[in-house]
Amino acid sequence: MLFSYFASAIAAVISSATLVNSLGTSCSTPLGAGTAAATDPFWMQNIKHQGIAAFNPSPSSYQVFRNVKDFGARGDGVTDDTAAINAAITAGSRCGGGSCGSSTVSPAVVYFPSGTYLVSHSIIAYYYTQLIGDARHPPTLLAAASFSDIAVIDVDPYIPGGNGAQWYTNQNNFFRSVRNFVIDVTRVPATMSQGTGIHWQVAQATSLINIVVNMSPAANTAHQGIWMENGSGGFMGDLVFNGGKFGMWVGNQQFTVRNVTVNNAQTAVFGNWDWGWTFQGITINNCQVGFDLQTGGGTATQTVGAEAIIDATVSNTPIFVRTSQASNGKLGGSLVLNNIHLNNVPTAVGVVGGAVVLAGGTTTIASWGQGDVFKGTSATGTFTQGNIPAANKPAALLDSSGRIFGKTHPQYGAYAVSQFVSVRDQGAKGDGKTDDTAALKAIFAAFAGCKIIFFDAGTYVVTSTIQIPAGTQIVGEAWSVIAGKGAAFQNINSPIPVVQVGAPGSSGVVEISDIIFSTIGPTPGGGAAGTNLQVGQCPSSGSGGTTNCMAAYAGLHLTASSSAYLEGTWVWLADHDLDSSGQSQISLFSGRGILSESAGPVWMIGTASEHHTLYQYNLVNAATHYLGLIQTETPYYQPSPVPPAPFTVNASFKDPATWSGISAAWALRVTTSTDIIVFGAGLYSFFQNYGQACLTPENCQSQIVNVDTTSSVHIYSLSTVGTTFQLSVNQAGVINQSSNPNGFAATVTSWSQS
Ligand SMILES: *[C@@H]1O[C@H](CO)[C@@H](O)[C@H](O)[C@H]1NC(C)=O
Ligand SMILES: *[C@@H]1O[C@H](CO)[C@@H](O)[C@H](O)[C@H]1NC(C)=O
Ligand SMILES: *[C@@H]1O[C@H](CO)[C@@H](O)[C@H](O)[C@H]1NC(C)=O
Ligand SMILES: *[C@@H]1O[C@H](CO)[C@@H](O)[C@H](O)[C@H]1NC(C)=O
Repeated sequence: MLFSYFASAIAAVISSATLVNSLGTSCSTPLGAGTAAATDPFWMQNIKHQGIAAFNPSPSSYQVFRNVKDFGARGDGVTDDTAAINAAITAGSRCGGGSCGSSTVSPAVVYFPSGTYLVSHSIIAYYYTQLIGDARHPPTLLAAASFSDIAVIDVDPYIPGGNGAQWYTNQNNFFRSVRNFVIDVTRVPATMSQGTGIHWQVAQATSLINIVVNMSPAANTAHQGIWMENGSGGFMGDLVFNGGKFGMWVGNQQFTVRNVTVNNAQTAVFGNWDWGWTFQGITINNCQVGFDLQTGGGTATQTVGAEAIIDATVSNTPIFVRTSQASNGKLGGSLVLNNIHLNNVPTAVGVVGGAVVLAGGTTTIASWGQGDVFKGTSATGTFTQGNIPAANKPAALLDSSGRIFGKTHPQYGAYAVSQFVSVRDQGAKGDGKTDDTAALKAIFAAFAGCKIIFFDAGTYVVTSTIQIPAGTQIVGEAWSVIAGKGAAFQNINSPIPVVQVGAPGSSGVVEISDIIFSTIGPTPGGGAAGTNLQVGQCPSSGSGGTTNCMAAYAGLHLTASSSAYLEGTWVWLADHDLDSSGQSQISLFSGRGILSESAGPVWMIGTASEHHTLYQYNLVNAATHYLGLIQTETPYYQPSPVPPAPFTVNASFKDPATWSGISAAWALRVTTSTDIIVFGAGLYSFFQNYGQACLTPENCQSQIVNVDTTSSVHIYSLSTVGTTFQLSVNQAGVINQSSNPNGFAATVTSWSQS
């Protein structure tokens, strides 16, 4: 099953010097700078295309990589390329059209060389599709004046006459990425909302990266950059919106947005509903309103529950944040503003109708909140519209301008094809059957640090731990899979990792992108073809038992000497079978989600950890961590059995020792740690033994976040669902959710312990 998904990079810097990296980099010419010539296309265009979909019914003929020009697209700015582009997407019996909810067996990279592609109808991205433009010279998708569909790119079409029915279930619309495009809707008449860039109604394992949307800057414009009405995401970053009525019109359970610039829009960001969003690194120039938020909806109509904004620069915009309803002394639209620079912004926070909650000007807002503020072990919060406790931000977490450090998705645009090595060229098969352990070990020994290692699409089965040496860059194709299988991974008393990044004591940066780490069961993931952990083996009735439905001992472990930048990472144990027609629920077991013992710095930007038995996030002896937003779900089968069953506590793995009175997994646990900043959290408990009767009394579980008394922690914008106590200290419940109702969730705007 899928257990770690890296939409973006994991960059691990191993810094202590106790052991010598046994692999080292034995190659002779270190990679160095990129050598692509100015006129070269992006390496992805010309690298040999030999990726396979291992579990497709026709793996020998199924084509993973598709260049739209091979399907007749001209990219000349004149020819209508809609049909050719959609032909490139649909070729090969893929998952779309309304009859297939999800599938993992037909992945595709649809590649666009530089050029201008005129389109008159939507480009419809099927399930498990990456749309990738030339990163060196991003192609333009140009909407014709007559463009008449919902958006230039649509990832979840509405079925005509279907009463609102769509192709995919919005919360299960996984595995999509769109990168390196300019989307131009300026030819569409300004007053037409069909001038929309992307209909992006998605869930986890999705990303928008490096996209510019150009729209009409007219005062009466109806154009929109992104339109997203539902879903459970997700991450997006490195986006620019010019003009438009809305840069982003967005409603989704939770999302993380990093590095977005909006110029000359009427409204930069419109939010209609959420449980919690985090915006990091936002620049707004010459708009009428920065964030325009629907609030005050209560339980009947969910509106924006919680918005947390860190590191924004806003210029020449009359209102930075505007809510549709006043808060009136009770929570309803939690806001957190941190390090906000205003230049000529008369109102920092206001209400529709004109009331000013926080005056603006040309000024800096260090740490401000609207909502319920708690401290330490006090059960009583204070409704606040004012300054809230500011977290200490260690310099190691910041960039040179004092913002939380951010890193763009590694795409290696400056590198020439000759600087890559293909694992299939070097003898790895990726067919989901062959044991590729020896081939991969040989490839890392020969090329780590000297070539960018390209994992052609495929499922690479390994039967012992693969060490990825410090200094390695790895890039996958349509989410290449490295899957652990067999006896070495089956000894629950002696767990070993499938992949180990960096040997202890080595140092250097490791970058891994577009790779999924998975297991083939039983192993002490699931839900994906070829895992043996699907509905046939492990249905939700539990009839598969535990032994044969063990997917993983742990998801991701950051050791004491490591440092990591994780972005768009999803550490998921499948709760349903992506390849069954009804997306049937399944009962699998994974012991632990993410354990960090790192002394930092660690960034977890837009990460999620779901359905692990003991905990989702566990920080022990950790320091200097920025986490925002984190999202979790408790296993649906608990409390049957109660944790730690079916696992046992392992002290050397820093498991919580005491489980008395605890009947469900911890979402977040922080012990003996310093400078932990959680900037946005959506921690959900929706079930008890697959039943949802516990949702209304909000008691699917009793406790969900635990902090000891010695750690220094600031948690902002903490939204929980189905949980009595939102926060506990030393495993004693402190904040009762009944104090903070906020629509479907309950929200603590700020909790701190320094
Ligand atoms: C999707 O969003 C629309 C518009 O906000 C809303 O009316 C509808 O109820 C949502 N549907 C689901 C399934 O969440
Ligand atoms: C932000 O995104 C823009 C557009 O992709 C990019 O040029 C810039 O380098 C990014 N900045 C950071 C700090 O990542
Ligand atoms: C506990 O975890 C450690 C570290 O991974 C491992 O070496 C040991 O075998 C585990 N012990 C048990 C009893 O599972
Ligand atoms: C939480 O608060 C509600 C409302 O005041 C109360 O009825 C309930 O007993 C509290 N729960 C606990 C476990 O204290």
